Amino acid sequence: MLDFVRQAIRDFRHTGSLWPSSPQLAKAMTRAIGSLPAPRRILEVGPGTGPFTRVLLEHLEPGDRLDLVELNRSFCKELDRRLLRSFRDEHPSIEVRMHCARIEEVVLDPPYDVIICGLPFNNFPPKLVRSIFRRLLLLLRPGGELVYFEYAGVRAMKWSVAGAKTRHSLRRISAVGRGLRRRHSGRRTFVLGNLPPAISVRLRKR
Ligand SMILES: C[S@@+](CC[C@H](N)C(=O)[O-])C[C@H]1O[C@@H](n2cnc3c(N)ncnc32)[C@H](O)[C@@H]1O
Repeated sequence: MLDFVRQAIRDFRHTGSLWPSSPQLAKAMTRAIGSLPAPRRILEVGPGTGPFTRVLLEHLEPGDRLDLVELNRSFCKELDRRLLRSFRDEHPSIEVRMHCARIEEVVLDPPYDVIICGLPFNNFPPKLVRSIFRRLLLLLRPGGELVYFEYAGVRAMKWSVAGAKTRHSLRRISAVGRGLRRRHSGRRTFVLGNLPPAISVRLRKR
């Protein structure tokens, strides 16, 4: 928790929050895994200190593979030290790979059955938001699920204090989300038990 707060103060644009996500949000974000038979290929983007990773690891079975992509070196090291090393030792038949890199640039081995994305899209320029979603959808197999979240009311809150340029960006980011939900059967789940409350969005690739 302290590590997360420290990183958030250092780089709020990429961290996007002051605290890690709650177990309730982690449950909503990882729901897709339960209904899929093993072996599964799973990608998590922006694991931070690992609230979603922890739940994913609990559900992994022999033959599954989990790739994690995180740009912050400190989070990568901590995740490896606190969660991944012991998991790998105890589960040699499950492959877990950490890529300490940006999702825009990392070389991966698709297709994935499920992608869990924790990126703070409302902090990014609309062009980057669009290109990251395009990449994630390319990495996903047809029929696979892409799950992301945003804080409830975050754009409305930012809007009330923003200048014209930021408002324009927020409008474009909102339009990207609407378009994705329309094209890929988007389903939203409100999660009150998170600080701040959040909405998880599940997209099923056509
Ligand atoms: C809102 S935090 C979410 C962390 C964690 N999933 C959670 O819910 O507590 C966003 C995370 O995405 C990472 N991140 C931001 N931009 C990224 C990028 N382009 N590629 C990979 N990771 C990124 C940040 O370093 C941070 O760990």
